[in-house]
Amino acid sequence: MVKICCIGAGYVGGPTMAVIALKCPDIEVAVVDISVSRINAWNSDQLPIYEPGLDDVVKQRRGKNLFFSTDVERHVMEADIVFVSVNTPTKTQGLGAGKAADLTYWESAARMIADVSKSDKIVVEKSTVPVKTAEAIEKILTHNSKGINFQILSNPEFLAEGTAIEDLFSPDRVLIGGRETPAGQKAIQALKEVYAHWVPEERIICSNLWSAELSKLAANAFLAQRISSVNAISALCEATGANVTEVAHAVGKDTRIGPKFLNASVGFGGSCFQKDILNLVYICECNGLPEVANYWKQVIKINDYQKSRFVNRVVSSMFNTVSGKKIAILGFAFKKDTGDTRETPAIDVCKGLLGDKARLSIYDPQVSEDQIQRDLSMKKFDWDHPIHLQPQSPTAVKQVGVVWDAYEATKGAHGICILTEWDEFKSLDYKKIYDQMQKPAFVFDGRNVVDAEKLRQIGFIVYSIGKPLDEWLKDMPAVA
Ligand code: NAD
Ligand code: UGA
Repeated sequence: MVKICCIGAGYVGGPTMAVIALKCPDIEVAVVDISVSRINAWNSDQLPIYEPGLDDVVKQRRGKNLFFSTDVERHVMEADIVFVSVNTPTKTQGLGAGKAADLTYWESAARMIADVSKSDKIVVEKSTVPVKTAEAIEKILTHNSKGINFQILSNPEFLAEGTAIEDLFSPDRVLIGGRETPAGQKAIQALKEVYAHWVPEERIICSNLWSAELSKLAANAFLAQRISSVNAISALCEATGANVTEVAHAVGKDTRIGPKFLNASVGFGGSCFQKDILNLVYICECNGLPEVANYWKQVIKINDYQKSRFVNRVVSSMFNTVSGKKIAILGFAFKKDTGDTRETPAIDVCKGLLGDKARLSIYDPQVSEDQIQRDLSMKKFDWDHPIHLQPQSPTAVKQVGVVWDAYEATKGAHGICILTEWDEFKSLDYKKIYDQMQKPAFVFDGRNVVDAEKLRQIGFIVYSIGKPLDEWLKDMPAVA
């Protein structure tokens, strides 16, 4: 029986390995992590991450050919294939701070693999890493190998949170990069056989190591660029009376452009888009390509602009001040169907409003109060001018309440900001909400989920990203 071990039981390691175990009953899969609480959660009924369909897959295979364990060394030692899916955050200190990937976790995993191995292994980069990381990993492994043969493969993951199981069941492609040597090609073939249990052969793409590593960064940069492009157009729509949904529809009908990922929003979030683009920017700078670096930086700058534009719109619409006013925040996760808040635009929007002394009442169906308070108490890391992370002043945090119901959040509020596109926000009883709010009552829809016309008929003043403005909003000072 082939044995797989995955180091890192996070958003990628957990679901990916659960699906491999489900689709390959002939393979034994162990997912290991240094975090005892995470592993305990994977072994319980309350999994550490919320992902539609995940519970079912884990329940089917756990204890049969899928195991979660903190015994990292034993499982690595026994494995034929070791996936490394540890976190690769942006460095916050030292050389490259604010842009470069922090490979501390990766390096320590590689050293441990070299230490405990007693047989040949294929080591698979699952984490998103800078181009040429495989070379560094290879050096660490071979310099400490005691004669053991290690083959390094790059097999980046393209799943999106909220649809991880669907994406893993039916991926657009699986990418495997390896050395162009006979041993490298043999390793590629071995990993290909794992995926071939359920992925059609034509969707398994093989390449050299550096192409695979770079393709992952490029794919995320292209996706984020589409969102920044449509968000840039959304600002122009508001200024001219065009409707961004109609523009995106017309543009996306061109088969060369396609309709996906053209939803204007308050800004993209998530653990990876910003991190991976900054990483790409850093690699360009290190390779003497400042023009290319600046091109990609602009994608993040537009994203930051979109978030501050939203805050300015809220403040300017409400007589240029939100001081002491209750604002309901509906949705805090970075997208629907996940409880993940990493780099969620809600953090920047809430901080912007708190900066203007608003009182916030936050509701998200999947994010805990603890998490929200933690997110809002960290100072924003300025990627362009790195400084050390510092907690926000405790007084600002006292202005934040977290509730478990949209009606509770909006009671007595002056305005509502919709920051995540949860389906339930489409079908709320907005008449009931309007009746219990201060007047004039505002809705700022950062995700274009509500029917603005219906809400206007109830009496709300509605702002929707990239849509023609209410007369009220037109009269307010221009938004920077
Ligand atoms: P995560 O933070 O959820 O999980 C990483 C896990 O690795 C943590 O549980 C941590 O405790 C563990 N870990 C760190 N060092 C370890 C060590 N030495 N030994 C054992 N365990 C260790 O991260 P994630 O979201 O799963 O992302 C992992 C990688 O995958 C990142 O490089 C990310 O860019 C990439 N990625 C993420 C997504 C996503 O949707 N989250 C999608 C594609 C790719
Ligand atoms: C993204 C990519 O889609 C995955 O392919 C990739 O594997 C992953 O990053 C990663 O490397 O971590 P994810 O961040 O989970 O996945 O979610 P997305 O669906 O891409 O959404 C990212 C952000 O963009 C969200 O805040 C979402 O609301 C926003 N978005 C998305 C828009 O504002 N408009 C859109 O049209 C699409």
